[in-house]
Amino acid sequence: MRVVIQDNYDKMCKWAADYIAAKINSHKEDRPFVLGLPTGSSPIGVYRELVKKNKAGELSFANVITFNMDEYLGLPHEHDQSYWYFMHDNFFDHLVDMKPENINILNGMTDDPEKECADYEAKIAACGGIDLFMGGIGVDGHIAFNEPFTSLNSRTGVRDLTTDTRIVNSRFFGNDPEAVPAQALSVGVGTVFDSREVLVLINGHNKARALAATVEGAVSQKWTCSALQHHNAAIIACDEAACDELTVGAYKYFLDIERGERL
Ligand code: GLP
Repeated sequence: MRVVIQDNYDKMCKWAADYIAAKINSHKEDRPFVLGLPTGSSPIGVYRELVKKNKAGELSFANVITFNMDEYLGLPHEHDQSYWYFMHDNFFDHLVDMKPENINILNGMTDDPEKECADYEAKIAACGGIDLFMGGIGVDGHIAFNEPFTSLNSRTGVRDLTTDTRIVNSRFFGNDPEAVPAQALSVGVGTVFDSREVLVLINGHNKARALAATVEGAVSQKWTCSALQHHNAAIIACDEAACDELTVGAYKYFLDIERGERL
């Protein structure tokens, strides 16, 4: 696992956007680049940087297919807290050459969630699998909506949200945890794990315990993000603020090993 420590949030976002752009631009295979995407506050700066590159003509999305991580169950597209709305508002609507038919987001209004999730997995496979999955994590280490104690082999499916997550996410729902949907559709830990590369953004003091558990803790279903320790090509991009709970040895190691600033 690589851990790329940047001074602050803006630098972390620039680093991640440069990395993603380099991957898309160097994609030579005879099929579109398949990119997994998250929602949340963490990726907003990365989306801003990717849009900048796209508008400047440095990065094209014409040959990119996207799959989002998750969606609240029961929220329609036009709801301003649906992840469909978030992705269009923060990213897709600003890109000059993203093809709408290449955007995949789980449908929170489906009347058959099992089929919706099975079809999503099948579509990922039909596209050749995900080349790079960008993710964020919750303060409890959940990746997508894979809450603590979700199987590390899980596939796309319905997830019950914990009270903790509903409280944390209530900031977007008038500070009322009851207003946060109780369930979501989410890719599984196994779905993320199957991606050729995974890039997870972890920033801010409130993620310090989660970063330490992800990088230095035991691989455990209690911290679902820790599954990435077994991935062959996982990168954590983080800021200084999130490093507070790392051991000094680990912190120094990652700074030292990244000193060459390889991309
Ligand atoms: C939600 C999403 C996750 C996201 C997490 C962290 O729970 N389902 O995919 O990673 O929030 O969000 P933030 O980046 O706002 O801390």
